Amino acid sequence: MNLNEPGFGDEFSDLQEWRLTLDQLGDWQKTVDCDSLRPGDVDREVVLMGWVQRRRDHGGLIFVDLRDRAGITQVVFDPQIASQCHERAGALRSEFVLAVKGKVRFRPEGMTNPKLPTGQIEVAAAELRILNSSKTPPFQVEDDLDASENIRLKYRYIDLRRPKLFNNLVFRHKVAQMTRAYLNDLGFIEVETPVLTRSTPEGARDYLVPSRVNTGKFYALPQSPQLFKQILMVAGFERYYQIVRCFRDEDLRADRQPEFTQLDMEMSFITEENIFALIEGWIVRLFSELKGFTPPAPFARMTYGEAMDLYGTDRPDTRFGLLLTEVTDLVANSEFRVFLQAIERGGIVKALRVPGGKDLSRKELDDLIEFVKIFGAQGMAWIKLQADGWQSPIAKFLAPEVQRGLTERLGLETGDLVLFVADQRKIANDSLGNLRGRLGKQLGLIDPEAFNLVWVTDFPLLEWDGNEKRYTSVHHPFTSPVESDMDLLETAPEKVRSRAYDLVLNGVEIGGGSIRIHQQDVQGRVFNALGISSEEAKEKFGFLLEALQFGAPPHGGIAFGLDRLVMLLCGCSSIRDVIAFPKTQKATCLMTNAPSEADVNQLLELCLKIEGDRNK
Ligand code: AMO
Ligand code: AMP
Repeated sequence: MNLNEPGFGDEFSDLQEWRLTLDQLGDWQKTVDCDSLRPGDVDREVVLMGWVQRRRDHGGLIFVDLRDRAGITQVVFDPQIASQCHERAGALRSEFVLAVKGKVRFRPEGMTNPKLPTGQIEVAAAELRILNSSKTPPFQVEDDLDASENIRLKYRYIDLRRPKLFNNLVFRHKVAQMTRAYLNDLGFIEVETPVLTRSTPEGARDYLVPSRVNTGKFYALPQSPQLFKQILMVAGFERYYQIVRCFRDEDLRADRQPEFTQLDMEMSFITEENIFALIEGWIVRLFSELKGFTPPAPFARMTYGEAMDLYGTDRPDTRFGLLLTEVTDLVANSEFRVFLQAIERGGIVKALRVPGGKDLSRKELDDLIEFVKIFGAQGMAWIKLQADGWQSPIAKFLAPEVQRGLTERLGLETGDLVLFVADQRKIANDSLGNLRGRLGKQLGLIDPEAFNLVWVTDFPLLEWDGNEKRYTSVHHPFTSPVESDMDLLETAPEKVRSRAYDLVLNGVEIGGGSIRIHQQDVQGRVFNALGISSEEAKEKFGFLLEALQFGAPPHGGIAFGLDRLVMLLCGCSSIRDVIAFPKTQKATCLMTNAPSEADVNQLLELCLKIEGDRNK
């Protein structure tokens, strides 16, 4: 293409000014990657292909750092060696695509670059082919980058040229390959399940897809392949896995995407212990092969009750202390109105002891108080243990025996800060649990190199939903109750424990699963406890209830958030950094501008009409 002539695409192009004729690749072959040449290659004739990272002109010589996915090689255009080639090199700009034929030579004394693996050599260009030009990129292809994330997402193909992001995706590829190899060796079969399907409840909203041929009907995109994998067990597969895309229309956070990837598994004739051993083998292999260290197995285990009591969350970050302690019984004997009122209303009082925390300033304390309010706490009381006694607005309400009780239970020492929240159990746990996480970071208590894995077990089967005025599943409705708690299903549903388990890594839930209900009558009783009528159950899950009547084996499984796992292994703080084309917090794709409005004719065909705008 001659860029002097106007033509298609001119509105996208600011290249006219180069007055440049582009070359064809012809019969040239790339002979080496840009990270591979070493002193031993000196005098070799090579062909490099890649992108211009940087061009520098130095007293007649033009230097180009040529980049491909592997690395960088310095190419030098020397008028003494190839004058035409040197002349054309003057037109090169960042991100132009080149093919260069030349000879490897040592860099002159003092010009070597110890930061580059190829830093001792350079390639003296004999021939140059300019395969494509590039507009000035909106940001430099460099790892230390201050461009906004929105610009990076819009030009994702440029962002993905950055080694860090590219290597994250290579790492992700390795995790997927190792995972497949591990499971294949153990006799697992990878099966694909439908994307256009019925709702699979995992606690989020469904993405719906209207059906053209069935007017007024909708498919739901799977929140997980849960029901299909159970049905594969009924079908006799025994060991299934799938690396599978799941879709959930929920509020997004740094570790959530509307579409994300699960490593999904299911097995027949197994118990919890089999699953734990299988997963521990897998995680240990991933860590030792990809991170060079072997986490001690078996992994730690903690019941849901312990996790909530000590960490205020079912995702305990066990890399640091700062455990929570309930003190309701002790402060019930105090005269502090706020505590007494909370207890009267059925709430609890919980404390967080911060060793050495007495040095926090008033302003820092106020910030912490504002922080717990995000999680619904009304306020937070505090005590500082100064050398000359307790300093606190509430000390005067705590009689000496209450102070003694607190000292003993919390193991208080001079220099400590103690923070109290009095509220409903859920709010007290949520606010102090989150505060614990914040203080862990703020006070530098977390070893950034540590990977702490813990299984959380003995979840309750159900929890009361105050808004909906009914019980909902803590895991999902197909999770088996603990056999010995089964009789409580009708009498005290909140006391029933489930056979669910989560695996938590550094305070992030990376996986969760359960032993399932494989008997139709038990499934019916659980639906009943969830306030799902038998008609509704039949309408929504009739196929499952029916399948359970045709010889369903005992079975169970687990699913991992692959994106989250890779994020943690790569040391990234956002799941978006390990997904090639992620969505924004508002579930949009800035590159393609999805979602977009539908064509009027498409809507007509689907018999759909848009009325109003919920966001206005
Ligand atoms: P669960 O809902 O716990 O279980 O999901 C399993 C794992 O998937 C990851 N995950 C997510 N990752 C990114 N973005 C999201 N929006 C998102 N939602 C979940 C988490 C989570 O631990 N069918 C059951 C599994 C089973 O019972 O076998 C299920 O989907 O890391
Ligand atoms: P007040 O009487 O509301 O001014 O509160 C007196 C002290 O108790 C202040 O230090 C508040 O931050 C604290 N406080 C208020 N509500 C709570 C609560 N729910 N739990 C713990 N402390 C609280």
